[in-house]
Amino acid sequence: MQGVVKALNTYLANLGVLDIKLHNLHWNVEGQNFFSLHAKLEEFYDLAGEDLDEVAERILTLGYRPLASLKDFMASATLSELPSKAVKGPEVVDIVEGDFNAMLKQSREILTLAEEAKDQGTVDLMAGFIGRYEKTLWMLRAYKA
Ligand SMILES: [Fe+2]
Repeated sequence: MQGVVKALNTYLANLGVLDIKLHNLHWNVEGQNFFSLHAKLEEFYDLAGEDLDEVAERILTLGYRPLASLKDFMASATLSELPSKAVKGPEVVDIVEGDFNAMLKQSREILTLAEEAKDQGTVDLMAGFIGRYEKTLWMLRAYKA
């Protein structure tokens, strides 16, 4: 179980970074697709915030403590933050695509770890995230086409 929890805490830290980063892009996006991307990014950070809570509560359910400070998130996260500066639409989509691919990869890794640990609750949690990231990544590809 310890391996699953460690991976869940890294995942949690990444969701903390992702939440802020999606806000950053929501604020700083510029260009012709401003209105659609501004709105879509809000949808994305709302989901990241919900996932953050779900993952922290999963860690508690397993009998462990979630990381719960920005300092601890930054020490554990594998996603990187962005400076506050104007970003054009196509670059926004590339950034989000990169981070969602990283989250998808991590979700799959945690699902495998949880399967090995016979932790069905975490398997189910990750399965839901995987399906959603796969679908969103398809939509981002379609948007860019
Ligand atoms: Fe807003």
